[in-house]
Amino acid sequence: MASIGFIGAGRMAEAMIRGLIARGVYPKEDIAACAPSEETRKRVSGLGVAMYESADEVARLAKVLVLAVKPKHVKGLFEDEGLRLGKDHLLISIAAGITIETLSSYVPDSRIVRVMPNHCCAVLEGAAGFARGNATDDDVRLVERIFSATGLAEEVREEDIDAVTGVSGSSPAFVYMFLKGVVRAGTDAGLTKEAATKLAAQSLIGAGKMALEAGMTPEALVDNVCSPGGTTIEGVKILDSGGFEELVRKAVAASIERSKEMSGK
Ligand SMILES: NC(=O)c1ccc[n+]([C@@H]2O[C@H](COP(=O)([O-])OP(=O)(O)OC[C@H]3O[C@@H](n4cnc5c(N)ncnc54)[C@H](OP(=O)(O)O)[C@@H]3O)[C@@H](O)[C@H]2O)c1
Repeated sequence: MASIGFIGAGRMAEAMIRGLIARGVYPKEDIAACAPSEETRKRVSGLGVAMYESADEVARLAKVLVLAVKPKHVKGLFEDEGLRLGKDHLLISIAAGITIETLSSYVPDSRIVRVMPNHCCAVLEGAAGFARGNATDDDVRLVERIFSATGLAEEVREEDIDAVTGVSGSSPAFVYMFLKGVVRAGTDAGLTKEAATKLAAQSLIGAGKMALEAGMTPEALVDNVCSPGGTTIEGVKILDSGGFEELVRKAVAASIERSKEMSGK
């Protein structure tokens, strides 16, 4: 038997498995996963977890299952391969855009949690929003433990999963664009690209931690860094004059709209 099984063993599943082992949530011996290709099975078995070819084998071994195949493969898994789950299974789906209603049409007897993680889970600093469906409080605590292994987990209503997609699923890309601009200014001013990237990226980590831990609003944090007549206020004036905050708001809103379209809303 395994304590947790992964259906699909791609980038997200691998990142999650690494986190679960690194943070001691499950020992590697208690983790099973599957992937159709031998190449993937070989790669992921290097983590010390048991690898199988089909989802059915994993579902027979583990009662807690993470559905980590591409959204386009979900239907085939249940309709063509005939994967069946029972009332003892907890299905934790990370497949973008697949609703709890659709999932429960495939596995009517199982408990379901729908999660939207982000790619920062690869470095154990992910942000995942999840909706509990018909899952119990114990299931929710387990989901929090599983996703806390690779970062932060926040429960939301299912109708808010599209908002999570914009706010934490897509937003790392916007942050990387911001980072590019900061690094360019740093290299223009004489820093090496490596030094500028390290300094700017660590500043993003630090700013994120301040936002999470300092107990201050974003407005207060900005004010805190800007002393009158100082250096930072000059940059803030430029961002304000270019409508920076509004542009970022529109970018996140566009991602949220696309997420709604993709899940058929
Ligand atoms: N990547 C992100 O940043 C991100 C963020 C949020 C949510 N997600 C969601 O996470 C899920 C996984 O994404 P990913 O980026 O990890 O994709 P991925 O790297 O393409 O991994 C998908 C995995 O599913 C396996 N697979 C395909 N068909 C299968 C089947 N019938 N039975 C069992 N396994 C099967 C693939 O096997 P092979 O390796 O053998 O082809 C592969 O290992 C997606 O639903 C995506 O929407 C991803």
